[in-house]
Amino acid sequence: MTIDIRLEAARFYDSNPVTPDDIPFYQALVPSPDCSILELGCGTGRVTIPLVSYCNSVVGIDNSAAMLSICRQKLAAAGIPLHKAQVAESDITGFSLGRRFDFIIAPFRVLQNLETDAEVDGLMRCIHRHLAPHGTCILNVFQPMFDPDTLRQKWVIPGEKMEWEAPVEGGKITCCSRRSRMDPKRLVLYPELIYRAFVAGQLSEEVVLKLVMRCYYPDSFERLIRDHGFVILERWGGYAGQVYGQGPELVIQFCEQKGVTA
Ligand SMILES: C[S@@+](CC[C@H](N)C(=O)[O-])C[C@H]1O[C@@H](n2cnc3c(N)ncnc32)[C@H](O)[C@@H]1O
Repeated sequence: MTIDIRLEAARFYDSNPVTPDDIPFYQALVPSPDCSILELGCGTGRVTIPLVSYCNSVVGIDNSAAMLSICRQKLAAAGIPLHKAQVAESDITGFSLGRRFDFIIAPFRVLQNLETDAEVDGLMRCIHRHLAPHGTCILNVFQPMFDPDTLRQKWVIPGEKMEWEAPVEGGKITCCSRRSRMDPKRLVLYPELIYRAFVAGQLSEEVVLKLVMRCYYPDSFERLIRDHGFVILERWGGYAGQVYGQGPELVIQFCEQKGVTA
């Protein structure tokens, strides 16, 4: 049985006011209104739900039952029928839905949650297995704030940093981060997010989410995609059209090499 690391933290996810402004970006790149979309690591449906009216159908997969439970509640509350949007609990590094999709996405740095080469290879095999011959896929990572050597020296810091604060009925939620550990060789960061709920000024709950964020740089991210047998079509440095390598994000759209499908 796999452990849902987001079991306690999932309910705080949608309170985050500082998620990327990526929804119009993905909506604009939906290839046609009758296409099929596969979202890898769909979470609570932050992107899934706004895509429903832009396509024929969207399937989301995620390995967090807690995130999916929130997503299903939101789909039901929005009156979205199952033939338009469905989500399933599965690991993006090894799944088989038995069909292909026109457009595959993994918004908000999902790729970086994969710690090992074996997991990344598994994800790439799954993309080959599910991408239609004419389809495209978009993956995204953040552009690290430092070059690799500086990252090794400066990423780990003592204490907590406030990430965001959001008002909720009767109080507020805060989210702080801790940067206490990294793998300097493989450039894998292990940040922790500490969610705290306050009611009438008193701390009522504290939840710690331990994350894995593997770092990629502009060259290594492109290489990763090419080395797994894909052809790069487009690259961006952020959702406002920044030049690749010159913005806060690294975003790459790619497709199969002609005549190659798994
Ligand atoms: C930062 S959240 C992004 C959620 C959503 N894509 C969004 O943009 O709001 C990362 C999501 O990826 C999921 N995830 C991470 N590793 C996964 C894996 N190996 N298999 C399936 N889902 C995974 C997490 O459970 C989480 O919901």
